[in-house]
Amino acid sequence: MVYRVTPAASLRGSVRLPGDKSISHRYAMISSIAEGESRLANYSTGADCQSTLQCMAALGVPIERQDGVVVVQGRGLKGLREPAGPLDAGNSGSTIRMLSGILAAQPFATTIGGDESLSRRPMQRVIDPLTKMGATVTARDGKYPPLSIRGARLQAISYEPPVASAQIKTCVLFAGVFADGLTTVVEKIGTRDHTEVALREFGAAVETSKGHVMIEGGSKLTGRSLRVPGDLSSAAFFLVAATLFPDSRITLEGVGLSPSRTQLLDWMMAAGAKIRVLDVAQVAGEMIGTLQITGSRLKGGEIAGAFTAGLIDEIPALAVAGAVSSGGLVVRDASELRVKETDRISTIVENLRRLGVTVEERPDGFQIPGNQTFRAATLDSFGDHRIAMAFTIAGLAAGGPCTVENAEAASVSFPEFYDTLESLRA
Ligand code: S3P
Repeated sequence: MVYRVTPAASLRGSVRLPGDKSISHRYAMISSIAEGESRLANYSTGADCQSTLQCMAALGVPIERQDGVVVVQGRGLKGLREPAGPLDAGNSGSTIRMLSGILAAQPFATTIGGDESLSRRPMQRVIDPLTKMGATVTARDGKYPPLSIRGARLQAISYEPPVASAQIKTCVLFAGVFADGLTTVVEKIGTRDHTEVALREFGAAVETSKGHVMIEGGSKLTGRSLRVPGDLSSAAFFLVAATLFPDSRITLEGVGLSPSRTQLLDWMMAAGAKIRVLDVAQVAGEMIGTLQITGSRLKGGEIAGAFTAGLIDEIPALAVAGAVSSGGLVVRDASELRVKETDRISTIVENLRRLGVTVEERPDGFQIPGNQTFRAATLDSFGDHRIAMAFTIAGLAAGGPCTVENAEAASVSFPEFYDTLESLRA
């Protein structure tokens, strides 16, 4: 699909965002190995989270939708069944990496792969810890999907992931649910903690202290009725869009505000964004609240160190804000961007250049001088959902109409994105 974006004057209105992608994956996987029924309201509508549901169904978990609520009949720790064929994780790195932790503990072998983009993403990071725990995992060229996982009785380990990654942490903790003993994940740089929070909600014995997350194997998990908070990473596109037009005023309701994800808000506010956080509450261990943003030009800044890991998914949107900011944007320590759904450093730089923006590409990030304007351009998602949405937002502020090729990629996390955007155009 080619999406045509015409310049906007401002964005106004109120939006309730679909469920958070990260939390949806975790709730689907944990409820599948819990005992009894779970009801998951506001489950992400994105294709990635449907891939997870399909994988769980193929593993013998009854899943249905009742009035938009995903109802999972949990099979308990020992109830998954050998699938009839390979599991398909689609475009979803979260599905393949996190689910591998569960597959590694099953008394059968499974193969799990996905689309062309997923087939290029690094898997050594989950193969290593699962092998240490006792599973046998083979991969294409030793490191790429599809993975063939022969489950085993797992032994607990203490593991420090080589890169800051909540997917690796989750994979090891999910394996730890089944392992003999106490599994520990050590993090130098903290990552999103939805797995720890959710496992505890379902009844697992999880402790966290000073960069260590520990889970005791064998705890019983019990089905829950939960509502998935709105997706802050989807909210990011509208937050950035609001900063492009002084007359904008957008309200985003029921957004997940986990302190492990709000580096985005901290960074934007430090850069001059006018964001109010209202009605904050804690539900099932997760913070939620309402965000109100009014337009104001950002002064830009730097994203580096621990901040980079904390807002890694928001960098495509922030790159757009950075180019029009007064001071520009420097992104460092972000080489992980090169192994996302696309090499996001190169797909961001390519689209910015098409918009006429001066940008310097670096191995671990980029530098964009400030005070730049966008010219009308033909942009491309290159099949990456966050690139599709970030550069559609850029098109709103361009000097003339832009087109975004392969715009349908947005549906990987946010199928309602274009309709929501239209509803906010003043
Ligand atoms: C995610 C973790 C991050 C993020 C991804 C979702 C998660 O990936 O980019 O979109 O839900 O745990 P990494 O763990 O590879 O950093």
